[in-house]
Amino acid sequence: MVGSPVASPDPQRGREVYDLDRAHVFHSWSAQGLISPMALAGAEGSYVWDYDGTRYLDLSSQLVNTNIGHQHPKVVAAIQEQAGRLCTIAPQHANDIRGEAARLITSKAPDGFTHVFFTNGGAEAVENAVRMARLHTGRQKVLARYRSYHGGTQTAVTATGDPRRWPNDWWSSGVVHFFGPFRYRSPFYSQTDEEETERALHHLEQTIRFEGPSTIAAVLLETIPGTAGIMPPPPGYLAGVREICDRFGILLILDEVMAGFGRAGSWFAFDHYDVRPDLITFAKGVNSGYVPLGGVIISEPVVATFSERVYPGGLTYSGHPLACAAAVATITAMDEEGIVTHARRIGDDVLGPGLAALAERHPVIGEARGIGVFWALDLVKNRETKEELAPYGGTSEAMATLLAGLKRRGVLPFANYHRLHVVPPCTISETEAKEALAILDDALGDIAGYYEG
Ligand SMILES: Cc1ncc(COP(=O)(O)O)c(C=O)c1O
Repeated sequence: MVGSPVASPDPQRGREVYDLDRAHVFHSWSAQGLISPMALAGAEGSYVWDYDGTRYLDLSSQLVNTNIGHQHPKVVAAIQEQAGRLCTIAPQHANDIRGEAARLITSKAPDGFTHVFFTNGGAEAVENAVRMARLHTGRQKVLARYRSYHGGTQTAVTATGDPRRWPNDWWSSGVVHFFGPFRYRSPFYSQTDEEETERALHHLEQTIRFEGPSTIAAVLLETIPGTAGIMPPPPGYLAGVREICDRFGILLILDEVMAGFGRAGSWFAFDHYDVRPDLITFAKGVNSGYVPLGGVIISEPVVATFSERVYPGGLTYSGHPLACAAAVATITAMDEEGIVTHARRIGDDVLGPGLAALAERHPVIGEARGIGVFWALDLVKNRETKEELAPYGGTSEAMATLLAGLKRRGVLPFANYHRLHVVPPCTISETEAKEALAILDDALGDIAGYYEG
């Protein structure tokens, strides 16, 4: 039962854990004095629980990474087994579990993707994909979307479009931003998907022409932008980007860090579209983040560039055995248990129709969009003007009320500005997903008064 207590609550320990955190842990993306982190004691499947013994249905998958759910026994066992056998080995050596992880990961990619460069996470994957593209083409610039997040390291954060870039951008990144398609908030005044695709492609092509095609190494795109709003691209857009890239000798990097490994109800989100990238970045779902892992899946022509020439990049923990063991076990379990198909079905049969029904009942939902277990509720003050329930880059009383209401009812939410993202583990059961929808329905009632339409 959502919100129900679990065995052995220990509030005293909870207070100690909280105090320890506040005394010594410096948190990401935060003003340290203004936060009060939730102390979590444990997790299993779709749930986490705190020290008071309250259980929460994890609709966030943490940072949208626990695709296989918490504490999957096969993945935990594989990490334990690997730890007993060989905890670490430097990246210059051949290692059985690293090779097997690379083989399994490439087996999910299209033909011609033969090699994996392993990193510790998504940002480093983007850093290295951009570096490869620059060296492969001999060009410097990268084009990326405004509505995007690509990670917190320097190249990745300057490739990012969202406000986390602003204080980190020293205008030396070589990244040029452009607008991608987004029907609900179209920057192109489009009325149809066809118009949005055509105009977004025209805008990209113009950007390339005016930046100078011979200066551009890569177009970097999240296949389905995640934190920036979960906007599945309209039909024909990605194929059109591919065609433009080919015409100008530009590489296409698809960032699958959030959208990949089951999240979109497919191994890669681009499996839904008629497109083939040159480089694929991944992290998060590849092993559900049980041990940090990310990487770049590299197509043959780029591999060939570095066959006689040194690739000037590396990491002490590239292909860490514990992380690779977790990836092998995760991908194997996802295959054996049909988890990717399950995620697709939950999206098609439960979350998709359920969130659409909520949008009919609650005017504050401007749009519900997504696929698989990758959904966003775009919350508005007014359906006509589409004014956001919180400003771009900010928060609001309405959003704080909604998030507090969800937590009070036993749901751990994921929000970004004026959006609530519904991003549970791929393994969420139908019953759990329906329970989540019922709680959302209830909690959305708390903010009905903020609708001004
Ligand atoms: C699409 C995308 N790319 C890259 C990253 C960065 O990944 P990491 O936080 O593992 O460095 C993220 C993280 O949310 C992401 O969503």
